[in-house]
Amino acid sequence: KSYSEQYRNQIHYSPDKNWMNDPNGLFYDDKTGIYHLYYQYNPEGNEWGNMSWGHATSKDMINWKQEQLAIPMLTDQGWEDFTYTNTTGNLVEAGEVRYVGVPTTNWGDSNGKKAIFSGSVYVDKNNVSGLGVGTVLAFYTADYQIATRINDGKEDGWGTWLGLNEIQEQHLAYSQDGGKTFIQYSPDKNAAVPKPLIPVTDSKGGDAANFRDPNVVYDDLNKQFLLTVVSNQQALIYSSKDLLHWKYASSIQREKNVGLGVWECPTLIPMTVAGTKTTKWIFAVSVQQGAHATGSGMEYYVGDITAAGQWVPESTHTMKEPLTFDYGEDFYAGIPFANMKDKRNVLIAWQSNWSYTGEAKTSPWYGHMTLPRELKLVKDTRATDGYLLRNTVVSEIAHNEQENVLSSAEFNTTLKNSEHLLNYTGTQYKVTADFSWDTKNPPESVGFKLRVSHDGRYYLRVGYDLQTKEFFVQRLNTGEPGMGNPRDKMNAFVDSGEGKITLTIYVDETSIEAFANDGERAITQNFFMRPEYVGVQPTNQLYLYAQNGEVHVTGLKINP
Ligand code: FRU
Repeated sequence: KSYSEQYRNQIHYSPDKNWMNDPNGLFYDDKTGIYHLYYQYNPEGNEWGNMSWGHATSKDMINWKQEQLAIPMLTDQGWEDFTYTNTTGNLVEAGEVRYVGVPTTNWGDSNGKKAIFSGSVYVDKNNVSGLGVGTVLAFYTADYQIATRINDGKEDGWGTWLGLNEIQEQHLAYSQDGGKTFIQYSPDKNAAVPKPLIPVTDSKGGDAANFRDPNVVYDDLNKQFLLTVVSNQQALIYSSKDLLHWKYASSIQREKNVGLGVWECPTLIPMTVAGTKTTKWIFAVSVQQGAHATGSGMEYYVGDITAAGQWVPESTHTMKEPLTFDYGEDFYAGIPFANMKDKRNVLIAWQSNWSYTGEAKTSPWYGHMTLPRELKLVKDTRATDGYLLRNTVVSEIAHNEQENVLSSAEFNTTLKNSEHLLNYTGTQYKVTADFSWDTKNPPESVGFKLRVSHDGRYYLRVGYDLQTKEFFVQRLNTGEPGMGNPRDKMNAFVDSGEGKITLTIYVDETSIEAFANDGERAITQNFFMRPEYVGVQPTNQLYLYAQNGEVHVTGLKINP
């Protein structure tokens, strides 16, 4: 039965079957009150390949309905006739388009195809594009390979065939039926196949194979549209007045961990600093390697955008010390919803990590999204440059929560050097509590233990370590087999000077999203309690614990 398979999360979106990665083109339709989620999707299998945009809709960002494929791969793209200097310095003159997806079956199958990679949506309410009031514009990357040749000056005029070159370019598709189906747009109306809005020749010294993930936003102050796209280890900003013609404005250069891996899925988010009228811009980007976590993760920077479309970091220090969006291993490629009401900023990420997805097998699907996160930019003197981006689960989740199941006696309790078994055994719930202690005589560690195995040797722990001041999620032998050296424990520094911390956790079948102090820090992890791996059946038991000392627990609640 659908959605009742082993390891299938129940409060997180996953497609009924097949592979899914990045969220794409999130937007809210204020006419219908419906949220749209597109995503990187393989319509043909449980592994990455044949990338297309899948689609789901929701009234509350929590309960999703799967829709039909929104943007399928481009087929019959035939022949390219641009010139482009590829990474090895060769002048590529022309080539046959050959998309080589995964699995690479045979040439016949993949000839003439372009894959639809990640991107974003903008709802053109004022018809600045001329494509119609309310048209849904989907900016995406076309990814393909061409069998290239160079003009070697020989007499036959054909040059030498060089083999395959990967090319990425920024395209537009638009929808006039509210986001169900999309029409490919071509700036050159007479072209036989759709042409890019921003061709690979504009990648500004990046490389042809890593020029992707366009994200469009409106800059209200300067009355311009901005498109951010990565080009290897930099992000390029283009500006436009009509959403169709884009002019290169500036670039943002990676300064931390340069050389480790490319940037992906950039996004510029204008945000009002909480309690003020000031606007600051967040530049958030996914890092393939060199993020806080092992493997891939998301970071952010605080700054401003000028009228000329230039990124001005809050200080020179900012670019050298990116802030971590989420301290877990499974938070990637997140982008915010476009066209939100009340200036809300809500972001969804892919809950996985490229360093082990190959082995992490669920069937017949792979991949799920994080719960939607409400973003708030707050002043915080402890943070780099004085700003902190908080993220919490959207308040809509409350409609999906049942009443607290614990007795009033457990609501306030004191623990000394002990574990306290709570009277609840479910697999999908929220648990929250305030922990406090005597700062002169603190315990070593406090928090929750969950999914504890019968023999007690396997469990997850979410807690706060008072010696290192680290909020953490530990998965003790609950990673996936072959997960590519996963970390046992993910940490985030939290200053709990006043002797207290609030922990809030959302647990699902294989997902844990833990928050300290109302979104000051977040840690998102997948976990797999495989009986065949663990050797014993996991239980769903949940404990409070205090290690080497005393803790007061108040406001303890479990909401299934
Ligand atoms: C990020 C990413 C994007 C790309 C997409 C392809 O996870 O690598 O950069 O557009 O996935 O599926």
